[in-house]
Amino acid sequence: MRDFEGLSKKHFDAQAKDYDQKETVYYSKFPKISCRDVAEKLKNHEYEKLLDIGCGTGYLIELLKKQNEAEYFGLDISPEMIKMAKSKFDESVNLTVGSASDLPYYYQMFDVVCCVQSFHHYPYPEKAMQEAYRVLKPGGLYILSDTGCSGIAKHFDNFVFRHFMKSGDYAAYSRKDIEKMMEKCGFTVVSSEKVQGFIFTVIGKK
Ligand SMILES: C[S@@+](CC[C@H](N)C(=O)[O-])C[C@H]1O[C@@H](n2cnc3c(N)ncnc32)[C@H](O)[C@@H]1O
Repeated sequence: MRDFEGLSKKHFDAQAKDYDQKETVYYSKFPKISCRDVAEKLKNHEYEKLLDIGCGTGYLIELLKKQNEAEYFGLDISPEMIKMAKSKFDESVNLTVGSASDLPYYYQMFDVVCCVQSFHHYPYPEKAMQEAYRVLKPGGLYILSDTGCSGIAKHFDNFVFRHFMKSGDYAAYSRKDIEKMMEKCGFTVVSSEKVQGFIFTVIGKK
């Protein structure tokens, strides 16, 4: 198998400095739409500890900090994205370089785990989802927002396109695929919505 984590790391290390400013499809246009949707969904939700997996430059945490007082954690495979995130916050935000498939956190630590526009990069998707499940408290929420497709577009994407991409994209999923995987990993799907275009957000409860 290609080294998808290595490709993602290289791709986002190179993007880190421009990522926030360049709101294009190649950079942060879709992630910003997803982050705003996730922040909106959490507006009236109380939590003490939240983890953002694949947090990038920390845009979601920035939004959430303005509306919810809590302890925030972010993890990302790209050291440069984490460096940018660290430049925005004081040390009360816990930011770590690491892989979604091997989370450096205790069992049942978090009330909410988010994963925004990052899941399609994971070479071990079920392992990553099981890790999210492991670190969530019972009753906790796993909020996954991503861009995906279905039908022929998905097959073309997965069987042709992905083999040539250098950005570390591992697979395209439909909203239904994510719902099914969540259920397989033990979550109960409590919400599943199209956000805009090919962007969707699915919420699973542990
Ligand atoms: C499109 S960016 C989204 C960043 C952020 N969530 C946002 O919405 O702005 C995808 C992020 O996922 C991270 N990523 C990719 N593969 C990863 C993995 N296996 N483990 C952790 N992070 C990963 C990348 O480094 C990148 O920062």
